[in-house]
Parts: sequence; C-alpha cells; structure tokens
Amino acid sequence: MHTPLRYDALARLLHWLVVALVGAQFVLGWTMPDVHRDTQPVGLIAAHLIVGTSLLAAMALRILWRATHRPPASELSRPLHAVSTLTHVALYALLVAVPVLGWINASSRAWPLTLFGAFPLPALSPAGSTFGHAMGDIHSVLAWALFALICLHVAAALLHRFVFRDRVVQRMALW
Ligand code: HEM
Ligand code: HEM
Repeated sequence: MHTPLRYDALARLLHWLVVALVGAQFVLGWTMPDVHRDTQPVGLIAAHLIVGTSLLAAMALRILWRATHRPPASELSRPLHAVSTLTHVALYALLVAVPVLGWINASSRAWPLTLFGAFPLPALSPAGSTFGHAMGDIHSVLAWALFALICLHVAAALLHRFVFRDRVVQRMALW
C-alpha cells in the first residue's frame, strides 16, 4: 500500500496550532465583557489580544511556508479541487484580515499590544480615530464570515471522512 500523501510536519503543526488559537479567539470574543469607550484591556480582553497577536504570528509563518512549498498532489476532481482551493484562499485572507482589523481597533483605543507579552507592536491607527472604531465593527462582522467558512471547511472534512471515505483528511492528520 502507498503511504498517504500528507502535508509536511511543519504545515500540519501550524494548521492545528491555528485551529486551537482560532477556537480560543471565538470563545474569548464571545464571552469577554462588551468593549466601551473607557474599557481597559484586562482579563478576558487581555487574553483575546495576546492570543490574537500570537495567531497572527502563526499565520505569518504559515503564509511563509505556503509561499515556499507546494501542497501534496490533489486526488480530487478538477471542480472539487477548485472549490477547495477557493475556500482555503478565503480562509487565509480572513485569518489575516480579522486579526489585523482587531489590531487597528485596539490601536484606536490606545491599547498597547505586544507579541507574546514581550515584544511591543506598533499602533496601526491613531488613538481616538473614527476609522479605527469602524474597523472594530468590521472585525465583528468578518469574524462571523470566518466562522461560516470554518463550518463549511469542517463539513467538507467530515464528508470526505465519513461519506466519500477517501484519504483527504489524512493529508492534515497531526500524526
Ligand atoms: C481570528 C482571530 C480573531 C477572532 C476570531 C476574533 C473574534 C472576535 C469576536 C467574536 C469579538 C466580539 C465581537 C462582538 O461582540 O460583537 C471580538 C471583539 C474584539 N476583538 Fe477580536 N478576534 C480575533 C482577533 C483579534 C485580534 C488580533 C485583536 C487585536 C490585536 C482583536 C481585538 C478585538 C477587539 C478590540 C474587540 C472589541 C471590538 C469592539 O467591540 O469594538 N481581535 N473579536
Ligand atoms: C475538524 C477540524 C478540521 C479538519 C478535520 C481540517 C482538515 C483539513 C485538511 C484535511 C486540509 C487539507 C486539504 C487538502 O489537502 O486539500 C485542511 C486544509 C486547511 N485548513 Fe483545515 N481542518 C479543520 C479545521 C480548520 C480550521 C478551524 C481552520 C481555520 C482556522 C482551517 C484552515 C485550513 C486551511 C487554511 C487549509 C489550507 C492549507 C493549505 O493548503 O495551505 N482548518 N484542513
């Protein structure tokens, strides 16, 4: 029997690291206190910022991996391969856009951001900017778009695993 064609270990590790961080971000985003004009970035909100910037760092590594590697050869039909590629590109785009919009919003609130609590990150909008405020609303809306896309992606994975019973899910299996 042929060994299944899989993504390499780094790509698989980064996929599941991002899954864990995104899961945490939705839980934190939906359970943290509502953010108002005078809200301080403490507690669950501080956690949302730390996890979010770590997620952006993981995505930077992932995009670097993707730009320098090819995924294993696809076993899908042409139309299905096209739909899957489109979904993956949209996932990548939202996994960058949602955190960057959150960062712009945090900057407009003059919240200091760090990477891993150690390296200070620059502000992406001036404190008090109305643009930065508006980006907070788009952050929330696009987070729902990301959620919908993730549901589609997971549904496709379940379909491959339990209905088509092909080897697609094994391509990203952690071990
Ligand atoms: C994929 C990563 C992320 C997801 C899924 C996510 C998700 C969410 C969700 C669901 C909310 C609550 C929205 C609401 O109650 O209407 C939220 C709010 C917020 N997030 Fe994120 N977030 C992410 C990354 C980030 C990052 C990286 C930052 C900042 C560095 C950030 C900063 C904020 C801020 C400031 C709010 C409050 C926005 C407001 O109410 O105006 N988020 N996020
Ligand atoms: C039960 C959960 C999940 C399973 C079983 C799963 C499985 C997979 C599999 C098998 C692939 C490879 C597809 C192929 O070879 O064409 C893949 C790719 C991908 N997944 Fe997931 N996934 C899950 C959750 C997620 C989540 C939550 C996200 C987003 C945060 C995500 C983002 C991606 C992206 C962006 C790719 C494209 C990778 C690339 O080609 O560079 N996945 N996933």
